[in-house]
Amino acid sequence: MTTDKLKDRVAIITGAGGGLGAECARVLASHGAAVAIVDINQEAAESVAAEIESVGGQAIALRTDVSSEDDVKAMVEQVMSRFGRIDVLYNNAAVLDVGQRQKDRDICNLDMDAFDCAVAVNLRGAVLCSKHVIPVMLKQGKGSVIFATSGLGAQGDLSLTGYATTKAALNMLPKLVAAQYGKLGVRGNAVQIGLAPAENAHSSMPPELLSILRDNHLTPELGTPRQIADVVAFLACDESSFVTGTTLVADGGFGSHTPSLVAMRAFFEQSEGRTGM
Ligand SMILES: NC(=O)c1ccc[n+]([C@@H]2O[C@H](COP(=O)([O-])OP(=O)(O)OC[C@H]3O[C@@H](n4cnc5c(N)ncnc54)[C@H](O)[C@@H]3O)[C@@H](O)[C@H]2O)c1
Repeated sequence: MTTDKLKDRVAIITGAGGGLGAECARVLASHGAAVAIVDINQEAAESVAAEIESVGGQAIALRTDVSSEDDVKAMVEQVMSRFGRIDVLYNNAAVLDVGQRQKDRDICNLDMDAFDCAVAVNLRGAVLCSKHVIPVMLKQGKGSVIFATSGLGAQGDLSLTGYATTKAALNMLPKLVAAQYGKLGVRGNAVQIGLAPAENAHSSMPPELLSILRDNHLTPELGTPRQIADVVAFLACDESSFVTGTTLVADGGFGSHTPSLVAMRAFFEQSEGRTGM
């Protein structure tokens, strides 16, 4: 469904060259926002911007490394020069490619370059974008800053030490934005995302792994990028005007059940089979 709930609003989405960020850009644009597609991958950003413009939306593609303050400053200047205002910042960019995931392991086997890279992109990048966008929002007296977090930032897991610690830290940022700028009209919130892989990401994960993760979500299926984008659109628009300083969990119940639930479910299914129930 498309609405005009973001009509005349301008949204910056980082890491919008693919995956969830690209879907958020499409959905915010479908609600009337002009969108800045910010990504380190210029070609990918241009392709998403072209797609949005081809269906009548307004978009600009900007090659930006969010961990570089010079890049972020230049990006904000270009958005202002093209659209004249910034209403929404979605800090979605994260370094998640296969090479990074192979090096970002358990603490004893952690490649410190991969750890530093996770901190630089996922955390410093979100802080830098907020640092340079919030002053624009303060001048306007209004704005919504949103951070992408993950269940891995709330619960321990076997690997991805850098990713998990940056996602945990990101849960603090909406509280800081709300406390520091809430009275001046700027809201801060995070979305804690369960597994919502883009279509092309399904094939890059072994089916057995997907099946374990599906079992641990309480919804019939894993999430979709659209389901996450709808939550971001809610946090971006005035429907959420009384929501600030919080983390909204959109994880299909992944983080809400007892650790033993999946094993218990299998146990009861087996017992029922044995007793013919
Ligand atoms: N997909 C999921 O199931 C899921 C689950 C939990 C949390 N998340 C979070 O959602 C966000 C998007 O995840 P995704 O699965 O779409 O990831 P993705 O890897 O598909 O997309 C990340 C994007 O960030 C860009 N990027 C990487 N480094 C950058 C940099 N230095 N500067 C600018 N852009 C950079 C990449 O080019 C890419 O387009 C991430 O923050 C991730 O932690 C996703």
